[in-house]
Amino acid sequence: MQKKSLQIKSLKLTSPVILAPMAGISNLPYRRIMKSFGAGLVYTEMVSANGMIREGKKTRQLLESHASEFPLGIQLFGDDPEVLGEAAQLIADAGALLDINMGCPVKKVIRSGAGSALLRSPERVKRIIGTVRRAYSGPLTIKIRSGWDEESINFLTIGRIAEAEGADALTLHPRTRSQAFTGQAHWELIGELKKTVSIPVFGSGDITTPEEARKMFSETGCDAVMIGRGGYGNPWLIEQINQLLANQPVLQPGVTEKLRVALLHLQYHQDLFGDRKTVLDMRKHLCWYARGLQGASQFRKELQQCDCLTNVIRLTEAFFTQTEEAA
Ligand SMILES: Cc1cc2nc3c(=O)[nH]c(=O)nc-3n(C[C@H](O)[C@H](O)[C@H](O)COP(=O)(O)O)c2cc1C
Repeated sequence: MQKKSLQIKSLKLTSPVILAPMAGISNLPYRRIMKSFGAGLVYTEMVSANGMIREGKKTRQLLESHASEFPLGIQLFGDDPEVLGEAAQLIADAGALLDINMGCPVKKVIRSGAGSALLRSPERVKRIIGTVRRAYSGPLTIKIRSGWDEESINFLTIGRIAEAEGADALTLHPRTRSQAFTGQAHWELIGELKKTVSIPVFGSGDITTPEEARKMFSETGCDAVMIGRGGYGNPWLIEQINQLLANQPVLQPGVTEKLRVALLHLQYHQDLFGDRKTVLDMRKHLCWYARGLQGASQFRKELQQCDCLTNVIRLTEAFFTQTEEAA
């Protein structure tokens, strides 16, 4: 299977492998790493449209970017068409593409009427996309789930509305809001959406190997695959999917390579956030890089007790130079 590059309005993607927007994960250091392994597009964490307009410091920090990660997709969440439209104008020059979150199942977001709560209100979806479309002329994508719950699966209706209102592509994570992250993603729904709309469709959910990515392409006809949790501590997955799609040998990283990337990730993190936050945030990433290696659980325990960056680096170097791939 040879996948061609993908065009989203004026934006040409060099690869159909995309980094998923993930709150608490897809910050600038993480995106730089994933981009360096060949992601065609990377998305920010979701950014509050209300926060944008109030110019919150935290919101602004979510929008910090680096030239090497472009094209960058910025994801906004909110429930008010006018506020989303205004926020879209404010970020117009900050990224190469804008996405609207209509899938987040987190209670705090839903209570504000945003994320997957929007799926219960197709009329509001219509007004939001229409208003943002008029306010923002760049590539516009919408990310949805299959519906609110089993009784109200409506991704095809939402998909048709999105296309009619001028969205340039759609991402479907084929679980309902009530499923949250449980069970399996129903990939066949991605295929149904692809047959229903004529704009590009990105598939999201449960890709952890290059073979699964290829399977999603062939079973659903989707135009791009999105990598979320499968990329934790494993940016090589993106490179491997690209290799498989190009019929090239799929290469496995060795321990030295894993250490190189883990330390680079840590360095990017420290540059942006400083020592304290790096120690706290990078623990989970370092454990993910160590997964599958001998002694990983002991490394994990020791990391939790380490609260100084120098020691975290020392421990990481020692672990990766002494360990071997688990049989
Ligand atoms: C920790 C975490 C945070 C997420 N945050 C967002 C988000 O901010 N915006 C969004 O549209 N989806 C978000 N998602 C959903 C992912 O983008 C993706 O659709 C979902 O995880 C399924 O893909 P996966 O199985 O490859 O992880 C998040 C998922 C996780 C696990």
